[in-house]
Amino acid sequence: MKKILITGALGQIGTELTTYLRGHYGNNNVVASNRSKHGDEKLLEAGPFELLDVVDAKGVAEVCKKHGINQIIHLAAILSANAEKNPQLAYDINMNGTYNVLEVAKEQGIAVFTPSSIAAFGASTPADNTPQDTIQRPSTMYGVTKVAGELLCDYYFKRYGVDTRGVRFPGIISNGVLPGGGTTDYAVHIYYEALKNKKYASYIGAGTYMDMMYMDDALKSIHDLMEANPDKLVHRNAFNVTAMSFDPEMLAAEIRKHIPEFELTYDVDPVRQAIANSWPNSLDDSAAREEWGWNPKYDLASMTKDMLEKLSVKLNAKY
Ligand code: SER
Repeated sequence: MKKILITGALGQIGTELTTYLRGHYGNNNVVASNRSKHGDEKLLEAGPFELLDVVDAKGVAEVCKKHGINQIIHLAAILSANAEKNPQLAYDINMNGTYNVLEVAKEQGIAVFTPSSIAAFGASTPADNTPQDTIQRPSTMYGVTKVAGELLCDYYFKRYGVDTRGVRFPGIISNGVLPGGGTTDYAVHIYYEALKNKKYASYIGAGTYMDMMYMDDALKSIHDLMEANPDKLVHRNAFNVTAMSFDPEMLAAEIRKHIPEFELTYDVDPVRQAIANSWPNSLDDSAAREEWGWNPKYDLASMTKDMLEKLSVKLNAKY
């Protein structure tokens, strides 16, 4: 029987993943944890919840013992743009959090999923169809911690036999909890503003392509990889995964198919633009497809249709 601990469970991915995994494994077998209780009330009540800061090594060990955890989905992290505002905090949470989780996993025989990111690449990486195995010299603190996390997960697998697995997520687009301080967040905000004000000023410039994925596919990727036959996994950690690549103009054109009067303007933020410029335009995710059957369901058109439908209900905004 699976007993799963999710760290960062009240974040953008964690909130939806908790409900998704509780649907698969039962409410009591998925323990949500977060460093604050600020978030979805229903999630806190539907199953076990622990206040847990991943930099507290003892706390991580105790929560795992208490619930008999055999799988950790380690989502707690500071995202790229926020990490540039406070690199020291990002280092502490992203590095020490991952280290603590891996140490507890080693001691207690726990499997670990850790997401890496497109941020694990840098300006010297081939930008188009970025290979699975390539140059990784990121220029952001977030990227540095993600590459180190990938390597640490490989190390704990090879040295201690910890069942570590992970993907490199692109920007994740969703209609639930907002992302917290990433570079790809514009692609979420644009839908809210399209419905509320019929216009959006993008902080990412025209012609800047980044990989993206709808939340449903992101959740499925975590579940599928953790259920995959380990004998087929050549890479284990840090699989490139993507569902689409677009720039703000392409996204706006898709929104205009539903909201013709939608207007896109630009108010480019130099910090986030520089981060985006250093990331790939599009990933090659063939290793994930071959090794564990990755196959996303949503493209830009089907995601946009679904986002607008769901958000218009949530925001009570007709179009
Ligand atoms: N969405 C993330 C960010 O922008 C990428 O991992 O920081």
